Amino acid sequence: MINYSKFKTGIIHPDREVKYLFDKDFSKLKSKQEKLKDEVDELKRQVDIFQDPSIQKDNFSYEKYKKIQEKGNKRKIESIFEIEDNIKMLSDYLMKNISDIKFGLCHGTRRGKEQEWFRKYLKAEVIGTEISETANKFPYTIEWDFHKVKDEWIEKVDFIYSNSLDHSYDPKHCLKQWFRCLRKGGICIINFTTFHTPQHSNELDPSGFTKKGLTLLINEIAKESNVLLENYLDGKKKSNLKNCKNWGYFIIRKI
Ligand SMILES: C[S@@+](CC[C@H](N)C(=O)[O-])C[C@H]1O[C@@H](n2cnc3c(N)ncnc32)[C@H](O)[C@@H]1O
Repeated sequence: MINYSKFKTGIIHPDREVKYLFDKDFSKLKSKQEKLKDEVDELKRQVDIFQDPSIQKDNFSYEKYKKIQEKGNKRKIESIFEIEDNIKMLSDYLMKNISDIKFGLCHGTRRGKEQEWFRKYLKAEVIGTEISETANKFPYTIEWDFHKVKDEWIEKVDFIYSNSLDHSYDPKHCLKQWFRCLRKGGICIINFTTFHTPQHSNELDPSGFTKKGLTLLINEIAKESNVLLENYLDGKKKSNLKNCKNWGYFIIRKI
């Protein structure tokens, strides 16, 4: 907290003109800032897809984006967003709807629990990508930016799972890359919750969508990517997230 009271008085240096910012100016600035925040919040409530100013074209710096993601990853390194029950439910769905699951990719995995759980239920090779160097501490996790694809993944992946699309600096491009990796008949699962919406976007989670916004985005690239939005599955909400109203999964199939 800034102690504004220290700006009330001061010694004016005799040789120099000293410019003061008095506490009343600070409170004016503060109230302007609060008003602006309210206006931005109101705008976020009205849109279906939101991009934080930090990732908008004229502003974007990849180095800065990576630094912010790594810092956020390290700050939250102890927490796990997904729960095992949902991965079990999704594994059941995959087993019923895809034959012969051999290889899966999870994107933006922090502690790597999703690949651990998918491996347990599917008995398949599943690895995770993580932009932060902390990736190297967790099994079956590679340090990798999920906007990029390895040649060996193209049309080879049976399923993809991510709850981190809101961390993308370009979700349309990102989804296109993920869809390129799916083999024919393969499935991409995108987690959608209250925390993926515009109201929850910021520099760390720079892309926000409503359910309608994400549906539109997927449908916009469906034809060129040879995919179909096949289903929406409800998941279990985490009990400690009191203000979470929505927890579900978009199921997208490569045709
Ligand atoms: C919301 S956390 C999800 C953590 C994990 N999936 C879970 O359920 O606990 C998002 C993670 O994605 C990582 N991330 C952000 N941008 C990424 C990128 N471009 N490529 C790969 N990982 C990224 C972050 O470092 C962070 O660990």
